[in-house]
Amino acid sequence: MGLLKVVVDRQVLRNNFKEIRRLLPSSVSIGAVVKSQAYGHGMVECARIFSREGARFLVVSLIDEGIALREAGLKGPILLIGGIWPQEAQECIRYGLTPVVSGLEPLEALSQGARALDQEARVHVKVDTGMGRLGVPTEEWRDFLNQALSYPGVVVEGLMSHFSVADSTESSDVAYTAQQMETFKNIVEEAREKLPHLKWVHLANSAATLQLPQTHWNLVRPGISLYGGIRIPHLRLREAMEVSSRILHLKQVPGGRFLSYGRAFRTARKTLVAVVPVGYALGYLRTLSNRGEMLVRGSRAPVIGRVCMDLTLLDVTHIQEVKIGDPVIIMGGQGKERITVFDLAHWMDTITYEVFCLLGGSHTGNREYIN
Ligand SMILES: Cc1ncc(COP(=O)(O)O)c(C=O)c1O
Repeated sequence: MGLLKVVVDRQVLRNNFKEIRRLLPSSVSIGAVVKSQAYGHGMVECARIFSREGARFLVVSLIDEGIALREAGLKGPILLIGGIWPQEAQECIRYGLTPVVSGLEPLEALSQGARALDQEARVHVKVDTGMGRLGVPTEEWRDFLNQALSYPGVVVEGLMSHFSVADSTESSDVAYTAQQMETFKNIVEEAREKLPHLKWVHLANSAATLQLPQTHWNLVRPGISLYGGIRIPHLRLREAMEVSSRILHLKQVPGGRFLSYGRAFRTARKTLVAVVPVGYALGYLRTLSNRGEMLVRGSRAPVIGRVCMDLTLLDVTHIQEVKIGDPVIIMGGQGKERITVFDLAHWMDTITYEVFCLLGGSHTGNREYIN
């Protein structure tokens, strides 16, 4: 019996993909973002599902993820949005991976690698239109492209950028997103003349894919929407991940007792306490102390006291017939109740992305797939 069981519903992933696909014209392809173990859902499994559904690209961060996908038999284009270190250039070409480049060093190494292997190195150039992370600064993109085009063996087949606040409805953020799009549009228009092999132009993450059609160009890069971690009116996106454990220990505690580290909780009455073998080591963060809830026998049970490394306490006084070994739902539904990724993100003071990654795990094991 595992301490934490993660179950991923393939049918929900397929449905989410279809729901996104349904919104897009056929001229727009999907690059399914499956980096970081597909936001905790399992990279290889999700890559297979989205490829079968028609994803044109699989999008990961670094080369190790790309190689793992190739070794699992995935044959389509794989975009490395984190780019590569120069010393990885030959391996990148050998595995047929497409890195995003934001600097000259990887380009030079790719050019050398391409010549050594007598193959082409396909790249997507990233411009920083306002995210301020990776990407060529807007002041430098012309010089950068000229240089990129001078490297033999390198083919610039894509031009891309990334939004910083496309998911925000706050007016200054909306203006910022519009500005990013405008900057990118101008760059694309001018760059097209110089790039005879430009095949892919892309900017949109989930929020933009689903709400801003003017940002689509011919490829979009949805991530969180595939996993149901974003709410968009009129769209039926669902969470595919359920996380559960089981009651390890039960005990009656009189009123007035302190429970767990730091004496952060004191029983106000006679309390039936259930101990669950999950804590922050498995991603059930300490911020959930005295804050989170889990489901036991279809009822909500509040987390009481501090969450420990591998144990968490629940108040189950109000729930009938609780037994050791009973399933405990950490994220998901039971009876009429449901704990959503949005509930957990709220209690943990974070975003749904982090909840999926923490609970789904960047580990590869211990995940089960249904449907
Ligand atoms: C460059 C890039 N594109 C697309 C995505 C997907 O974004 P989202 O999960 O918000 O759809 C990410 C996610 O971090 C990203 O870094």
